[in-house]
Amino acid sequence: MQDYMDFVAEILIDKQTIQNRIKELAGEISRDYTGKDLLLICILRGGIVFMVDLMRHITVPLQLDFMAVSSYGAGVRQSGGSVRLSLDLKTDIRDKDVLLVEDIVDSGNTIAYVLEFLQTRQPRSLKVCTLLDKEERRETSIAIHYRGFSIPNKFVFGYGLDLDEYYRNLPFIAVVDLKKYQPKG
Ligand code: IMP
Ligand code: MG
Repeated sequence: MQDYMDFVAEILIDKQTIQNRIKELAGEISRDYTGKDLLLICILRGGIVFMVDLMRHITVPLQLDFMAVSSYGAGVRQSGGSVRLSLDLKTDIRDKDVLLVEDIVDSGNTIAYVLEFLQTRQPRSLKVCTLLDKEERRETSIAIHYRGFSIPNKFVFGYGLDLDEYYRNLPFIAVVDLKKYQPKG
C-alpha cells in the first residue's frame, strides 16, 4: 500500500476542526429532538465514523440503525449514477423521528433515493445530517438540515470516506492528488 502522505494534496479539515463542529451539530440536534423519538440511520459505510462521534455528543435518548446503498458507476473520479438498496433497516421507522447520517452529499442522488424510499414507511419526521456537502455538484435538489462543512468540488478521503475502500480510519479530511495516487490493481 502507498502511504497516504504520498498523495495528500492538502488536509482540508483537520481533526480538531471536525470534532469542534460535531459538538456544535450534536448540540443543535439535542435541542431539536428533545421530547421526540430519535432514530439515527447511518448510511454505510462512509457515515460510520461521523455517526459514532456525533452520537456520543447527543444528549437525548436515541436508537441506531444502519442501511447501505450502492451506486453504479461510483469511484474515485465519479459518483452518482443509479442507486439501489443493498442493506435494509432492522427497525420499523413508522412514527419515529428519523435522522439520516451521511458522510458526504455530492450529486444528491443517494440521499434523494434514500429519502424517497424511507418516506413510504411513514416516519414521523425525516431529516438529513451530513458531515460534508459538495453543493457545486448537486444534480437533485434536496434539503439538508444539519451540515458540517461545505467543501469545494475535490475528491476527499479520510474520516469515513474512502479511497478505493482504504483510509476511512484517518481522523482528518484530505484532498487526494490524483496525479500521485496509484490505485491498486
Ligand atoms: P451522491 O449520490 O453523488 O450524493 O454521492 C454520495 C456518495 O458518493 C457518498 O456517500 C460517498 O460514498 C461518495 N462520494 C462522493 N464524493 C466523495 C469524495 O470526495 N470522497 C469519497 N467518497 C465520495
Ligand atoms: Mg456514503
